[in-house]
Amino acid sequence: MTSSVTIRRATAADAEFLLGVRSEPSASRFQPLRSYALERLHNILLSRTSDPLDASFSAKAQWVIESNAIPAGWITLDITSREHGVASVGYTVAEEFRGQRVASRALALVIAAAFDAGELDLSRLEAVAAVENVASHRVLTRNGFRDERIAKGLLVINGVRVDHLRFGLLRPDVVSGRCPS
Ligand SMILES: CC(C)(COP(=O)(O)OP(=O)(O)OC[C@H]1O[C@@H](n2cnc3c(N)ncnc32)[C@H](O)[C@@H]1OP(=O)(O)O)[C@@H](O)C(=O)NCCC(=O)NCCS
Repeated sequence: MTSSVTIRRATAADAEFLLGVRSEPSASRFQPLRSYALERLHNILLSRTSDPLDASFSAKAQWVIESNAIPAGWITLDITSREHGVASVGYTVAEEFRGQRVASRALALVIAAAFDAGELDLSRLEAVAAVENVASHRVLTRNGFRDERIAKGLLVINGVRVDHLRFGLLRPDVVSGRCPS
């Protein structure tokens, strides 16, 4: 593993790159991706970059994942309950960068920011992944997420209602060092 993986907040200038990754057929095989016009995505990104990522943040954050400083994918964190300190995460890596632990390492960076009391100060992270999306299960379990069982027919993907696994990660499990490397 020789590449360096970093994340930075996505900006409106990333809209074209993100649309390119979204248009890869495999990007939408296991997740429902809305199709956006460039201007619409540009405006969504503008709205996601303004608020600082601190303990009062209660919206959706998006980062561009970079491998050796080259954009390689995205990762999101959506605060579903600030009151309870809960957020959900999602990620996609461009086809040419897959299989190099890019998603796993990017998720580790987001987990660190999510649970840091000086940053997002959250207590629990959640994710769902289609039961057949084994690569995504690995990304989550490698980062300490536990399989919290199946949600039958949770989402409609390409016109088909798909069963998903739910995953969760609690801050104490990371702080106490019980996550696998
Ligand atoms: C899921 C995804 C983000 C993984 O990105 P990635 O950078 O290739 O992931 P990583 O290299 O960090 O880890 C993938 C793991 O899955 C394993 N894997 C990949 N494809 C697999 C398959 N078909 N069956 C079993 N394991 C598989 C890899 O060996 C690796 O495991 P390891 O860490 O034990 O070696 C990427 O495949 C993707 O963008 N898919 C399309 C979008 C998507 O499904 N997003 C998630 C929605 S929940």
